[in-house]
Amino acid sequence: MDAKRSIADRLLDWYDRHARTLPWRAPPGVTPDPYRVWLSEVMLQQTTVATVRPRFEAWVARWPDVASLAAADEAEVMAAWAGLGYYARARNLVRAAKAIVADHGGRLPGTEDALRGLPGLGDYTAAAVAAIAFGQRAVVVDANVERVVSRLFRAAGKRAVRAAAEQVTPDRRAGDFAQAMMDLGSAICSPRKPKCLLCPLARDCAAHQAGEEEAFPVKPAKKPRPARFGTIFWLERGGSDGLSSSAREVLLVRRPAKGLLGGMRALPTGPWEPAAPGLQGAPAALDWAMLNHVVSHGFTHFTLELALAVARGDAHSAQAGGEWWPVDDLASAGLPTVFAKAAEAIGRVR
Ligand code: ADE
Ligand code: SF4
Repeated sequence: MDAKRSIADRLLDWYDRHARTLPWRAPPGVTPDPYRVWLSEVMLQQTTVATVRPRFEAWVARWPDVASLAAADEAEVMAAWAGLGYYARARNLVRAAKAIVADHGGRLPGTEDALRGLPGLGDYTAAAVAAIAFGQRAVVVDANVERVVSRLFRAAGKRAVRAAAEQVTPDRRAGDFAQAMMDLGSAICSPRKPKCLLCPLARDCAAHQAGEEEAFPVKPAKKPRPARFGTIFWLERGGSDGLSSSAREVLLVRRPAKGLLGGMRALPTGPWEPAAPGLQGAPAALDWAMLNHVVSHGFTHFTLELALAVARGDAHSAQAGGEWWPVDDLASAGLPTVFAKAAEAIGRVR
């Protein structure tokens, strides 16, 4: 029997019975909306399905199609992305929406090559959208597919996995096939203790036959991430001072467009350095109190350890986007996770 046919057929049969219902998917036989497929694939890079699901629903309620996203206010889009991380993804969504309106009549182009020409659409996203939204035969390899395929063939390394995925991808239903791999990887072929007894591909699976499922995928040795240090400044005014009382407000800034967390609303920070920079870059010359607490956050290329400095005062040095924000309404500021963590810690520790 042709192994290519049998793996795809067995997996698609399983998918027809077990596919997850997700808000960006269409029921069997119905073509999904390419805008929703694209948006979901961008959100799902580096972010879990459980986190993405409610954020996706809120997003499409606000910007239901390419045209509305192309016309959106970028600052609002960035705030709506808050907490999802890798903020260049949000900026690229708006850029790509504008390009789709300008160059493609407002409709996503339907081939992998044309999709790859849009801002933020790399090999993975272009293949996923071409396959899922347009029914093209495209080879989609995300972390789930990599895990399943590497186990099926005991394939070590990205090139071998890609070649094996190329082999098993069917000509028809390539989008369902890719999503079936993802669902299998999520529900059955998990990183630890895969449920091979429930797997429709167990008889095809070389790692399972050898009893060494968890040896795959073979991971390249990880480089340790260097640590960097910084200080977050919490400058507060208002509140009760014994004589009068007004709403407590905290100073927020907008980060420069270029660089990490670019364009996001944020608490003021000083420089991020190989050693703790103390009060360098404070937004006002005040008597800052350093809290006995450090906020840690992992970015792709380094981890950040942030000290917390707190002061009260009304005046601050001129800073881009400096605005006073009600402390009780910080949730609506759209702060990236690292600053939301810091605000939460300051409220708790102080
Ligand atoms: N992860 C990335 N894309 C996905 C999809 N379409 N369905 C489920 N999980 C995914
Ligand atoms: Fe994964 Fe086990 Fe299925 Fe192989 S048999 S694909 S290891 S769940």
